[in-house]
Amino acid sequence: MPESIVILTGAGVSAESGLGTFRDTGGIWDQYSLEDVATPEGFARNPALVHDFYNARREHAAQARPNAAHEALARLERHLRGRVTLVTQNIDGLHERAGSRQVYPMHGRVDQAVCAACAHRWPAPSKLSTQTACPACGQNTCRPDVVWFGEMPYYLDEIEQALQRATQLVVIGTSGTVYPAAGFVEVASHLGAHTVEINLARSEASDAFNRVIEGPASEAVPAWVEEVLGK
Ligand code: APR
Repeated sequence: MPESIVILTGAGVSAESGLGTFRDTGGIWDQYSLEDVATPEGFARNPALVHDFYNARREHAAQARPNAAHEALARLERHLRGRVTLVTQNIDGLHERAGSRQVYPMHGRVDQAVCAACAHRWPAPSKLSTQTACPACGQNTCRPDVVWFGEMPYYLDEIEQALQRATQLVVIGTSGTVYPAAGFVEVASHLGAHTVEINLARSEASDAFNRVIEGPASEAVPAWVEEVLGK
């Protein structure tokens, strides 16, 4: 079977681009209450607080630049055209800005807005607020186009199909604590794929992988890509 690689990334792949992770010491969930800013109930309770939270993350993401890990994954896709599927839990858009094309942002994109009334999607302005009118229906019911806890991630059918045909699953910079992404390694292993974890340090999920590569993504990911391309 030809090489077919599914890559799953988390916040650790963007850490060296200056964007915070969630569960490392001092991470985003040490600074904000997840329930207040990343759930539909939190948005219903205080939409202005949630808009402020994502307006700040949208600005940080816009100012950040892809790092060597993002660029190496885009290079891998160019060399293995059609045989690399990149699934990311990140909402920062850095994989796309590095040139990756086959990207499934399963938790959405902070630079997109969606209307809760008519489901229209459009590129978010730098600041969204409760006064932002939907360009399609005119109602001020917009929200960041991101997936909150308790909501269904995007692209699950496409991701399932990619896992079914994967010869390798490579999981980069994620704590492996949030489902369904955290369950991909079991699915891939069950289907006979080789599984690799690339992380700064061993994670809670490391024992589930055939191979664990420890190191910062900006060094470990380019090295792994060169290893794959050098075969
Ligand atoms: N290089 C590689 N890995 C790194 C680096 C780095 N420079 N810095 C941190 N890491 C690793 C950490 O060791 C940790 O395992 O990145 C991981 C970050 O884990 P989390 O902060 O939990 O982020 P993530 O796994 O992406 O969270 C998943 O949870 O809050 C939700 O929707 C949010 O998409 C997010 C999901």
